[in-house]
Amino acid sequence: MVSTSPQPYDAPTASLFPAQQLLHLRAGGVSVVIDARGPRLPRLVHWGHDLGDASPAWLEDLVIASVPPLVSNVPDEAITLGVLPEHSLGWPGAPGLEGHRGGRGWSPLFTVVEVSVGRSPDGTQRLRVEAVDSSAELSFVLDLELTPTGVLRLRGTVRNDGLSNYALEGLALALPVPSEATELLDLTGRHLRERSPQRQPFAVGTRVREGRRGRTGLDATLLLVAGASGFGFDRGEVWGLHVAWSGNHRTYVERLSSGQRVLAGGELLLPGEITLSPGQGYSGPWLYAAYGDGLDAMSARIHEHLRSRPSHPHSPRPVILNTWEAVYFDHDLTKLTSLADAAAAVGVERFVLDDGWFKNRRDDHAGLGDWYVDAEVWPEGLKPLVRHVHALGMQFGLWVEPEMVNADSDLARAHPEWIMATGDRHPLPWRHQQVLDLDHPGAFAHILDRLDNLVSEHDIEYLKWDHNRDLIDGGHHPGGEPVVHRQTRAVYELIDQLRARHPGLEIESCSSGGGRVDLGILARTDRVWGSDCNDALERQTINRWTQLLLPPELIGCHVGPELSHTTGRRHRLDFRAGTALFGHFGIEMDLTAASASDRERLTSWVALYKRLRGLLHTGRVVRGEHPDPALLVHGVVSQDRGEAIYSIATLVTSVNAPPGRVRLPGLDPAALYRVELLPPGDEPGGINHTPASWLTQGGLTLTGVALGHVGVQAPNLFPEHLFLLHAVKLTGEAD
Ligand code: GLA
Repeated sequence: MVSTSPQPYDAPTASLFPAQQLLHLRAGGVSVVIDARGPRLPRLVHWGHDLGDASPAWLEDLVIASVPPLVSNVPDEAITLGVLPEHSLGWPGAPGLEGHRGGRGWSPLFTVVEVSVGRSPDGTQRLRVEAVDSSAELSFVLDLELTPTGVLRLRGTVRNDGLSNYALEGLALALPVPSEATELLDLTGRHLRERSPQRQPFAVGTRVREGRRGRTGLDATLLLVAGASGFGFDRGEVWGLHVAWSGNHRTYVERLSSGQRVLAGGELLLPGEITLSPGQGYSGPWLYAAYGDGLDAMSARIHEHLRSRPSHPHSPRPVILNTWEAVYFDHDLTKLTSLADAAAAVGVERFVLDDGWFKNRRDDHAGLGDWYVDAEVWPEGLKPLVRHVHALGMQFGLWVEPEMVNADSDLARAHPEWIMATGDRHPLPWRHQQVLDLDHPGAFAHILDRLDNLVSEHDIEYLKWDHNRDLIDGGHHPGGEPVVHRQTRAVYELIDQLRARHPGLEIESCSSGGGRVDLGILARTDRVWGSDCNDALERQTINRWTQLLLPPELIGCHVGPELSHTTGRRHRLDFRAGTALFGHFGIEMDLTAASASDRERLTSWVALYKRLRGLLHTGRVVRGEHPDPALLVHGVVSQDRGEAIYSIATLVTSVNAPPGRVRLPGLDPAALYRVELLPPGDEPGGINHTPASWLTQGGLTLTGVALGHVGVQAPNLFPEHLFLLHAVKLTGEAD
């Protein structure tokens, strides 16, 4: 139903003469030099540090300077790496395009036929290169863009120009990184512990991060990063790549014995998944590539790019109350009405009813697919609750899991053929559920209709869109052919159609927590759920690494109950709230059972979030590199560096007492700042012994350079506590 045809795209139209095809794109402190003069596919001569104004002659010398000498026992011409690596040019690494027509046409050699450039209204510089291989009977189109913030976006499209079918097995694009990149960083994770960093040397060979889960994955590396030895948040050149796709994907780095290094990625196609009939094309997902001097600089370019999108949520991110860890499946109108009252009283702005509201959904064994309000639990429907929530001045949100179905559901009984399967058996159940194959037009139409009805009937402003399992044996009934690609496109289409019908609707992408965090889903949703783990200690690091790709306002982070049900740890409210402050802030606990003092304290935290969200959601994320692993320092600095908020958290007890000085990065070196504790992030009872003397005297005034390079003495903190600092620039320059 959903085709594999290239997505509509407004191609650049200004064709270039050959002499103009050595291009220098510059934006946001990044230069990209592209040799598209043909006849071979374009190659990146440089991607990285800004080169300033470069004259055409100078650029030509840059190309010449990059030609390697011929050594012994290599092809008679230097091997060049195009953005689509080609085996036919002697590239001994992974080819970009893999496929064949009955065993032929497997080693294409493309010739450039057209190069055009353009500029979008937002200032994005765009390049399109069209190429053909008449013997393989294929065409290839490269779209490459440099956004005003310096993010490189690229996408490849292949078209079958022959009269027979072409079996496509893979399409990956590759970017060269210089030999200065000697270390790698990627992320892994699992349910409740997403985004754990792992580092290793960039050795000869290939390091592949594959996602074969049919969703982005709790273990997905948001970015695969190659960088200079010892790179960190504030130092060392880094180059990172992200595949903006919510299905199977591949991101890899490859280092050849010649020393050449690439960063590459694309969709991972299952056997036989894409066959291009004559004239048919396939577009891979967009790849996002970012460079930075340090990880913070790389992330800042991506954050600013995301913030510049017209679709980026621009309204202040409302304080959420999510009912999950407050009531789980135990739905009761009286209880939820009091919860809504308690939420409104602390300042909540959006009330989200989580799992458990629909037919037969008393636990996670049944009901998925039956998107009708359960008449037994909700005899008057959801409307009384929705009305109550609206009357309290809050928005109403609802949990759904549209791509899933329980075997024990009316939908599965009525349409067993809509369940994904590769043959006459059902896939392994996972959380007692199966996957609904949206490539069946009936299934797609049914789910769209149900969601549309629910949103209209109940005045729903927000959907928490969940996806709680991997796609195993993701086949299409009755033949069982793989359908993950089509499912991914269908989900995008489903969301797009729903949003077209309800333009004000916001959607959260949840997938067992952070299992669907990627820029494909985020092109049509408004935030991700960072993790099912609301334990603030875990969230300190999960959030830190999710921010490698996403700015704080796109990452849902909630104040959970005092006792975390996922770890068994207990945390004071201030640690929980001070952690959630640096994301899209929410609450996920039974407020009706909270003590009066906790509710009062939470009210202050909500007020602080509302006061600071303008800064937190537009400023630059800075992550400190404190030498003591017990301390985690991070902050957000306003774009004009006039103001900053820092969090200093203790993850464990330190071997040092008192802890050393803490550097506060990102400030204007020449300016003077007043630095003070920021209540309620001043943790009464959490600061052990005496606080540092500068805190008892109410703060201090120092230059940005002193704060960034000398720092301030941290107070002695109990483990699993934090304190907040507020830095405000004083008018006038420092002497
Ligand atoms: C998933 C989500 C949770 C919650 C439950 C409900 O695990 O990640 O936040 O919504 O489903 O079943």
